[in-house]
Amino acid sequence: EKGGYEHFMLKEIHEQPKAVRDTISPRIHENEIDLGEIGMTDEEIKNLRKISIVACGSAYHTGAAGKYVIEELTRIPVETDLASEFRYRNPIYQENSLVIIVSQSGETADSLAALRDAKAHGCKVLSIVNVVGSSIARESDAVLYTWAGPEISVATTKAYSCQLAVFYLLALKFAQIRSAITPDTFQTLLTALKQLPDQIEGLLSQKEKIQFFANHYLATEHIFFMGRGIDYAISMEGSLKLKEISYIHSEAYAAGELKHGTISLMEEGTLVVALATQDALYPKTVSNMIEVKTRGAFVMALSTKKHPDIEKYADYVLYIPETQNLFAGSLAIIPLQLFAYYVSLGRGLDVDKPRNLAKSVTVE
Ligand code: M6R
Repeated sequence: EKGGYEHFMLKEIHEQPKAVRDTISPRIHENEIDLGEIGMTDEEIKNLRKISIVACGSAYHTGAAGKYVIEELTRIPVETDLASEFRYRNPIYQENSLVIIVSQSGETADSLAALRDAKAHGCKVLSIVNVVGSSIARESDAVLYTWAGPEISVATTKAYSCQLAVFYLLALKFAQIRSAITPDTFQTLLTALKQLPDQIEGLLSQKEKIQFFANHYLATEHIFFMGRGIDYAISMEGSLKLKEISYIHSEAYAAGELKHGTISLMEEGTLVVALATQDALYPKTVSNMIEVKTRGAFVMALSTKKHPDIEKYADYVLYIPETQNLFAGSLAIIPLQLFAYYVSLGRGLDVDKPRNLAKSVTVE
């Protein structure tokens, strides 16, 4: 059942190229995106004033990345909320807005409660769900399924990657309908989107290198992740993945926040994983890398070959293939998933069933 892999998590990490392909391909026809499933007219899409993305855990992290992509391409204001916060904060529902609930299981209690609240207030609810026929799928006005297939490991990997891909499709489609991007930009982005599954496949071949690196950090107590923009959203997921299955304390911070607190935690040898995939933010992130290195941190950076000078500022660099900046998160997350996996494995822990956690959180 594990298809020759030692754990479901490793199997599911390897299933990502297929899962992402299965999620995007049926929705792309001759260089056009077909999202008929959302049941919205072009008029409704043009009139959208606000999008609220609501989810928990890793699904929330895809929403955090989705916000950057949707806002950048469509210029529709997006707010991303944790379901457990959203449902209790008397959220403001307005006309011509859309609530998007993201959930692998489709059964998460807080996400389901948020959905019901939005519907009770007359809001249209679209969900991005992996389990067909789950509660969230059934109660939403429309569903965009992620076609990841069953996910067994408590730590999500392939469903997360598919959720990101659905956000890209949605952002591109909305941007096209609203004429927020040129036809050329649309085609350039669509071409890049279609390349992602093969690029993810290529990254999986770096796993020995990542295992080797991970094995040096089995006894460490704290690991920090930092980045800006989309890199920050992906840092949050890298950090959650690690703490969930390795039990190492870790936190993700927006690199610009360093001086506002976290830098006091830097000591000789502290591992900082720095994401620097976003071209426009690259010089800023590099200056944060220098700041932590000056305090003795060991910096492991993730970037692209476009920035070879990163080797001057980081102690160790992992390169991801070139893609459009907006999609870089789909590639940057792969080494971070593998890192979490190999740290957990090296520490001899129960990778697929970490202590105190359930695959689906059906109580609040
Ligand atoms: O089934 P859902 O996507 O609604 O679950 C949300 C979170 O419970 C889930 O993503 C959790 O954070 C994962 N264990 C992370 O790997």
